[in-house]
Amino acid sequence: MAAPANTGVFVTFEGGDGAGKSTQIRFLARLLEDAGREVVRLREPGGTAVGEELRAVVLDPKNDNLSDEAELLIYEAARAQIVAEVIRPALKRGEVVLCDRYADSTVVYQGYGRGLDIEKLRSLNDVAIGGLWPDRTFVLDMDPADALKRARRRNAELGLSEKEGRFEAEQMPFHTRIREGFKLWAAHNTKRIVVLDAADSPEGLMHQALANIDMFE
Ligand code: TYD
Repeated sequence: MAAPANTGVFVTFEGGDGAGKSTQIRFLARLLEDAGREVVRLREPGGTAVGEELRAVVLDPKNDNLSDEAELLIYEAARAQIVAEVIRPALKRGEVVLCDRYADSTVVYQGYGRGLDIEKLRSLNDVAIGGLWPDRTFVLDMDPADALKRARRRNAELGLSEKEGRFEAEQMPFHTRIREGFKLWAAHNTKRIVVLDAADSPEGLMHQALANIDMFE
């Protein structure tokens, strides 16, 4: 998978809430920028003006009456926009795109988590991304009880506990299904998805990630 330095590279991070994805993205971005690469850091849902508005809607605990299908279509709408507006152009310019969550989250949260049909999710994902799967995806795997403690602490620190609490409010069986779902989905996509033990230190995780992104060599 080695690629010349002027070729765009698309890397995504996935996992349960609170597994440390954003820290990893920050670390990796700094390292790649120091090595002279242009790096675009993104998060889903979000990353565009429209996407951030959709994010506010879908993560607002006030909207706990959203149907599973409506929730799904909001994620896909935000994704279609970020792909068209940000990700494709950045890759075309030869930049590195690091995204916190992407289409795998839909398969796992809406499929394994909410119970929607995985085949339908695959085709809806494809409407949004038009075949643009990442070059590499890392799943940060962690015991959901530990991860949830981290997510709650972070939300409280950021003052997000009210606005962004819809998933953090889910019960432990949901989070356990998410963990198992990511592992199952990774086992179906072994060429692209690498599962990392998120209990490792941030530095340790970054080295594990780098060892699995041979296009940066
Ligand atoms: P966020 O606060 O960004 O959580 P995290 O830090 O764990 O990424 O909220 C995003 C939430 O949206 C997260 O709980 C997972 C969920 N989600 C889906 O259910 N489907 C999706 O397609 C995406 C992108 C996210």
